[in-house]
Order: sequence, then C-alpha cells, then structure tokens
Amino acid sequence: MKAIDIIRNEHRALAAVLRALEATIADLRDGRRPPDFRLLAAMIDYIVRVPEEVHHPKEDGVFFPHIRAACPDAVPIIDELEHQHHRGREHVLQLAMSLIHFQAVGAAAQESFCAAAERYVAFSWTHIEMEERQLLPLLSDRLAPAAWAEIDAAFAANADPWRGTADEFERLFSRITALVPAPLGLGDRRSGLASRIT
Ligand SMILES: [Fe+2]
Ligand SMILES: [Fe+2]
Repeated sequence: MKAIDIIRNEHRALAAVLRALEATIADLRDGRRPPDFRLLAAMIDYIVRVPEEVHHPKEDGVFFPHIRAACPDAVPIIDELEHQHHRGREHVLQLAMSLIHFQAVGAAAQESFCAAAERYVAFSWTHIEMEERQLLPLLSDRLAPAAWAEIDAAFAANADPWRGTADEFERLFSRITALVPAPLGLGDRRSGLASRIT
C-alpha cells in the first residue's frame, strides 16, 4: 500500500477504538455495564502503541517535513497538526493516569476517567478530521516522486494497525466488534471514517 492508504487505514483502526471508547463511556455513565478494566487497558495500550508511538512520530518525522518543503500553503495546517501531536501526548498521559486511578479507587473515580476519555476522544476526532479533510486533499501531485518514495517506504514498514506485529491487537478488535456492532464498530474499514466525517 502507498503511504496515503496506510495513513487512512491507521486512522480507521483508531476510529474503531474511539467509537468503542465512546460506547464504553456511555455504558459506564448509564450504569449498563460494570467497568471492564482489561478492555479499557487494551484500548489505551493500543492508543499508546499505534497512534502515539508509530503513526504520529512517522507523520512528524517523514511526512510533514516533505509537505512543509513542497506546499507553502499547507504550512499553517502542518504547524497546527504538529502542535496537536504534542498536546496529544498530554491527553494520553492523563487518560492512562485516570484509568489507573479509576482501577485503584473504584466508582468514586469513574466520572474523572469518563471525562478524561471524552477529552481524548474529542481531541482525536478533531485531529483525524483535520488531516483527512484539510491536509490530504491538498497533496495529490504536489510532492516529488522521490519524496513519495521515501514516505511510502517509511509507512510501509509499519505493522498492520488491525493486527500488530504478532496479532496482538486481534483480540482487542474482536472485542470491539462485539461491543460496538458495525457500522459503529469496525464497520467497513475503507469507509468507516467517511461516515464520521462526511
Ligand atoms: Fe497526526
Ligand atoms: Fe494521522
């Protein structure tokens, strides 16, 4: 796959986790289900290991520098997206810490966890939508073939965002499918996000 397809595919995998997190927050608040700490930890582990440790660093390190050099009109968008990546790390740290606190003290910390999860989810939708709606449509033919070759090679080295390097995410996504039925869960991997942003 080319880098743009890989980026969209990684966004859709994160979108599935975001929808599952939204559904889980709603269930907790309505008292429909007790907290499943193992599932919550698996979702946050995914957020740390795929978007935070692989996807965003590769955008910052390989993708954005080429766009910055070739597309002056995209520079304000890149500035904002890089700023969001930086802020995203703070959101994820707060999310992880609030889950630990929730697990440690129980119901008294449920609302603070739900609020941290909502902040992260809202932040992530804004970020994905900005990249998909404002940045990617600008690019088409504007980067040189050599730049695309470097970007494609960098993203092609990423593990499958639905499976991981050792199928470690398969269980998480099968549980997400059960938790949030299609199209709200995994749905169609190619068009799942489109329903969210169109
Ligand atoms: Fe990003
Ligand atoms: Fe992205």
